[in-house]
Amino acid sequence: MNRSQNSRRSFLRNSLFAAGAASVATLQTSPSQVMAQSSEGTPVLAPPMTSEPINIGSNTLSEGPLKAAVEAAARQLPLSGSYGGVAASSFKPTLARQLGVPEDYLYISPGSGPALGWAVQSFVSPTASLVSADLSYEAGWRAALKKGAEVIKVPQNSDWSHDVRGMCAADPKAGVLYICNPNNPTGGITSRADLEYALANKPEGAVLLVDEAYIHFSDNAVSAVDLTMKGDVIVLRTFSKLYGMAGLRLGYAVARPELLEKIKLLAIDDVSSTTYAAGLASITDENLVPQRRAYYGKVRRDTVAWLEAQGYECSVSESNCFIVNVNEDGREFKRKLATYGINIGRTWVGYENWPRLTVGTEAEMAKFREAFTAVMAGKLGPLPMPEPRVAMLDGRFEDAIGAEHGLYELGSRIC
Ligand SMILES: Cc1ncc(COP(=O)(O)O)c(C=O)c1O
Repeated sequence: MNRSQNSRRSFLRNSLFAAGAASVATLQTSPSQVMAQSSEGTPVLAPPMTSEPINIGSNTLSEGPLKAAVEAAARQLPLSGSYGGVAASSFKPTLARQLGVPEDYLYISPGSGPALGWAVQSFVSPTASLVSADLSYEAGWRAALKKGAEVIKVPQNSDWSHDVRGMCAADPKAGVLYICNPNNPTGGITSRADLEYALANKPEGAVLLVDEAYIHFSDNAVSAVDLTMKGDVIVLRTFSKLYGMAGLRLGYAVARPELLEKIKLLAIDDVSSTTYAAGLASITDENLVPQRRAYYGKVRRDTVAWLEAQGYECSVSESNCFIVNVNEDGREFKRKLATYGINIGRTWVGYENWPRLTVGTEAEMAKFREAFTAVMAGKLGPLPMPEPRVAMLDGRFEDAIGAEHGLYELGSRIC
């Protein structure tokens, strides 16, 4: 992405109004954002000031949604007085066609996080465990623990893939085998052959839950969507990552209708018509996925090469995140980097020295490299160091210990 595309995108990202929404008078702004006028006289938010913190900690994209998605959502906004709308009714058939599955194989949810929780809770119980890789995304662990189910973590392979053989053998009474592909936080991928092995060899009665939140970033991960027609497989996808729509909340589950029926007993499927409009515009743009995949793939390879050239080991990633061994407590390191306004991700139990980094734009990663170099040289930045986060039974922390013990605040979000 060149500079002019970048500034055009950030202009569009901050544009709250396109034609249809110009009548709205007041805006919620962050303190550091100021109102400005575009050349067309449309009120917009000025781009964030350069001193604003850089978030490379939650695997989201600061460039936000596609321009056409912002415009489609803005056109939909004045029509929000009624339920649904054209985009809401076209989204599912369009998506089903693209994925090559019948429409009744789709469950649309406000982000894939809720669908993940509902899917886990539909198939685990105090006598049916959740089997996951160690390490992996913890939201499913949390959902299982809330249901009184055991969470069994099987160490990943040395190439950062899931040990599917170990996972299939871990518990004959497993209710769910969770495979995150590419994995969060490592970005490691699990091969199609291994996914097929898992489907063929999972314990009888277990559901294979394949979380493809990051698959759009990968060159080599092969989707399990078609496997949903062959067995007890549920695939999850989200618009929060490559599509840049985390705040709009859109995701979906793909599975045989009998499996989806169980999820629907728990689920509340409320996706707004503006979100549907943005989602439809995003999936009908043929260039969005390949362009962003290529751009963030290059930034990731460059960042990893830079870190490795200095001796810092990184996971082998095909995602917009990876973990890096900073050779000291990752939570401390995260606090130090925050003094430069650079917010990175958390650590996992057993990988306390390996915080997760999100791959941002070239400009964001250049700032990260500067701050990283300074912190490694023992220099702190101008901002106060954040308080260490302490594990408390009432929640509100997002580190590895919290994940391990399922002590998050009820309803709190992890990325
Ligand atoms: C692997 C994985 N799955 C699912 C989600 C849920 O994302 P959302 O609820 O925003 O769709 C996330 C969010 O970070 C994630 O990392």
